[in-house]
Amino acid sequence: MSICGSQMNSSKITVETIRAMKSRGEKIAALTAYDYPMAKLLDEAGVPFLLVGDSVGMVVLGYPDTTHVTMADMEHHVRAVARAKPQALIAADLPFKSYDTVAAVVANAQRLVAAGADVVKAEGGLEILPQVQAIIAAGIPFCGHLGMLPQHILEEGGKYRIKGRDETGRLKLLTDAVALADAGAFAIVLELVTPPVAKEISEKISIPTIGIGSGPDCDGQILVTHDLTGSFPWFTPKFVKPKVNVAAEIKSAVAAWKSSLTSV
Ligand code: KIV
Repeated sequence: MSICGSQMNSSKITVETIRAMKSRGEKIAALTAYDYPMAKLLDEAGVPFLLVGDSVGMVVLGYPDTTHVTMADMEHHVRAVARAKPQALIAADLPFKSYDTVAAVVANAQRLVAAGADVVKAEGGLEILPQVQAIIAAGIPFCGHLGMLPQHILEEGGKYRIKGRDETGRLKLLTDAVALADAGAFAIVLELVTPPVAKEISEKISIPTIGIGSGPDCDGQILVTHDLTGSFPWFTPKFVKPKVNVAAEIKSAVAAWKSSLTSV
């Protein structure tokens, strides 16, 4: 095949691109995408990191939390995002219970890659280290996720709690972050970590931290796109200031169209 006829996207963002952004001090913008049009729009807007997050369970599928999301749900949405052929890196969440064992995690991470993910993400630190090592040994780049772990929401009594408030919590986060970085993770999402601890972790490890509700000093920031755009108005986390009110725009467009209909 000639180079011109090749489907290769020469400016495809890789894990090295994301790591280099930290080295240059360039903030990493990351957003969730669950379907073809949103992946295309975010890619055209220059977002380098798209996460097919298991938050799809709440903001698209109508579940109360992420524990209901299955491998089949994730594969379906990863395929839709991958069809957009974004330059952005496509990360996919390993859903609840899909990485309980080393044997299961490699097969499930490979399924997400076969669906079109470039990298996978899972929640936890030392307690999932053997699974993380197995993913990386299988040649699949891995993104960590520490702090508030939404897949543990039932153990947390249904509350999204801030992590790193006391010394034990701070030390656990630091130990987990160093362990994930040493195992070869290329980045770590820090969710609802106190800003001073998120800053300390970001300074301590050489791989990028991508914060959500964890203050301004992470190497990048990630949001659920529906929160940023006001597309899921029934719940917006306290730390998000939506930049547009898509729900209101849709309702007003529908009302204008409806009132333009002439009765027979
Ligand atoms: O599933 C998701 O959207 C996430 C983000 C909250 C980081 O994991």
